[in-house]
Amino acid sequence: MDAIDVIRAKRDGGALTPEQIDWTIDAYTRDAIAEEQMAALAMAIVLNGMARPEVARWTEAMIRSGERMDWSALDRPTTDKHSTGGVGDKITLPLAPLVAACGAAVPQLSGRGLGHTGGTLDKLESIPGWRASLAPAEMLRVLGEAGAVVCAAGPGLAPADRKLYALRDVTGTVESIPLIASSIMSKKIAEGTGALTLDVKVGSGAFMKRAADARELAETMVGIGADHGVRTVALLTAMDRPLGAAVGNAVEVAESVEILAGGGPADAVELTLALAREMLAAVGIDRDPADALRDGSAMDAWRRMISAQGGDPDAPLPRPNETHVVAAPSSGVLARLDAYGVGVAAWRLGAGRARRDDPVSAAAGVLCHAKPGDRVTAGQPLLTLQADDPARFDRALAALDGAYTVTADGGDGGGDGAAVP
Ligand code: URA
Repeated sequence: MDAIDVIRAKRDGGALTPEQIDWTIDAYTRDAIAEEQMAALAMAIVLNGMARPEVARWTEAMIRSGERMDWSALDRPTTDKHSTGGVGDKITLPLAPLVAACGAAVPQLSGRGLGHTGGTLDKLESIPGWRASLAPAEMLRVLGEAGAVVCAAGPGLAPADRKLYALRDVTGTVESIPLIASSIMSKKIAEGTGALTLDVKVGSGAFMKRAADARELAETMVGIGADHGVRTVALLTAMDRPLGAAVGNAVEVAESVEILAGGGPADAVELTLALAREMLAAVGIDRDPADALRDGSAMDAWRRMISAQGGDPDAPLPRPNETHVVAAPSSGVLARLDAYGVGVAAWRLGAGRARRDDPVSAAAGVLCHAKPGDRVTAGQPLLTLQADDPARFDRALAALDGAYTVTADGGDGGGDGAAVP
């Protein structure tokens, strides 16, 4: 087999054969296909797509490129969730211990933030002592002790995806439904969960800006899960505005702890409970997760999970050196608060990274003091920007230019358009 023939086949709009797919993924994993050839193939896939059987085979080959984890030693069913990523999406943090408190095991392999969307591991790393890297035996220990573990995927899990995702990131080839679906599902299936609930985000702050694309991505992933015996369901949820009130790292941990304590912003609580109900139903556990928030058992599971990974759940979270308040420009109704603009602002404040190995600031972020639909008074704080270095405020403010609108009557005021990074 020859990489150039495979690239030509996809470039010319053909379907790749199972043999071509197996060979390509295996050779790429062994470094026997050059990065530039894989980049050309990825671009051909972006432009010409893949049919469902091709996506299924591509995913299968990526799973086979590495190990598949096995949780059969646990005495609880495993159920996990994956979000396609958004702004202020801290839901994994309260959700994993909540579902564990209801009797399931949550073995979650998570990622770091890139661009304007945050990463679960970056958020949790703002807790002093908390470790993201665990060996499989340690994951099993944490799952046994706490019922939930959230950690980084090891190098042996879907290594083909690890290489390919890094390549796609720098070659403009992330935005492809077959490539996104196979990338996410190969890792989730290799992770060994028995059930999977997908939170597919739609809106300005998400990968998928249009509901039709989000639905296609969701259907593709649900189909891949079913083919591999993983009970998979998907919710399509809004990402046109930030989720909850906090966007960043430590600020999102603090908001998650509020949710676990029975408080927190209504939209984040509602989504946490909706996902928990799906995750529990998928493994036949008939418990109302709201009870576990009320009786403190979800908070207990959180504390066990953080401690089992070396973190101190009682340690003070990092605080910013500098803050800058953005005030409401007029009195009326906050008609719009654009997720993308707020996400870019948080990123520029230091909460996110531009390159994979950049450090992130634990304390940087944005606090949103009003949600779209809320009444505001001229001069009241709308957003608080947090940063370690005040030099970051100007570029963050530029990202927010046009990202919010206050109107007299709550109409969208003609729309200022989304902020541009
Ligand atoms: N997340 C992934 O893991 N892969 C993608 O391709 C996109 C988002």
